[in-house]
Amino acid sequence: MKVVICNSNVEAAYIAADMVTAQIESKPNTVLGLATGSSPLALYEELVNRYRRGDISFACTTMFLLDEYVGLPVDHPQSFKTFIRRVFTDQIDVKAKAVYVPEGNALDDQEACRKYEVSIVEAEGIDLQILGIGSNGHIGFNEPSSSLASRTRLITLTEQTQRDNAPYFDHRNDMPTQALTQGIGTILDARSIILVAFGLKKRDVVKSAVEGPVTAMMPASSLQLHPNVTILIDEAAASELEHSEYYRSAFGGVTS
Ligand code: PGA
Repeated sequence: MKVVICNSNVEAAYIAADMVTAQIESKPNTVLGLATGSSPLALYEELVNRYRRGDISFACTTMFLLDEYVGLPVDHPQSFKTFIRRVFTDQIDVKAKAVYVPEGNALDDQEACRKYEVSIVEAEGIDLQILGIGSNGHIGFNEPSSSLASRTRLITLTEQTQRDNAPYFDHRNDMPTQALTQGIGTILDARSIILVAFGLKKRDVVKSAVEGPVTAMMPASSLQLHPNVTILIDEAAASELEHSEYYRSAFGGVTS
């Protein structure tokens, strides 16, 4: 794992945007995996800025979202489909039909998940997956106890995840209790992965994910099994890491 301790989330966004830019320059028909949540927002903003300046085009890219709530109307302001359109995909030149989101309203969840996996395979896999990390260590919505080999499927959200995400909804009862999510096995199939995490509330899960044992109880620890992962964190999120001096000497100064 490459652990990069950044001065701020803005610096992390800049480094991540450089990585996305380099990926698209080397392969214009790049397949990107997208996360929702607050952590990647600065990255999406930076990518939109670069697009507006004419520095990058997403016209040939394909994008797959990690997850979607079950049971929300597609146009609900807090559906992940609406969210990612608002903060990113509607502001760039990616083709609307090249942005895939798990079908949270499908009549047949299993079939929708199977089709999602097939779509990823037909796109020849994800080149670069962007991830956040939940306060319980989830990636996508793979809650603790998710199999490290899991594929896209229906999952019940933990109480903690429901509490974390409820503030985005007008009423606590509007918060869905289930979601469709890419599995951990699906995520690990990506050819490269960037995880972003910021703030003191992420310090314990970052410590466990990076330096703890690989265990289904800490889904992000599965990233230790992947050969090409970059963890971009700020000082606060890095504050529990035992080997931070090593990470600084080995991976620091990556700014451009
Ligand atoms: P956050 O969510 O970026 O809003 O902290 C991360 C997640 O739940 O995966």
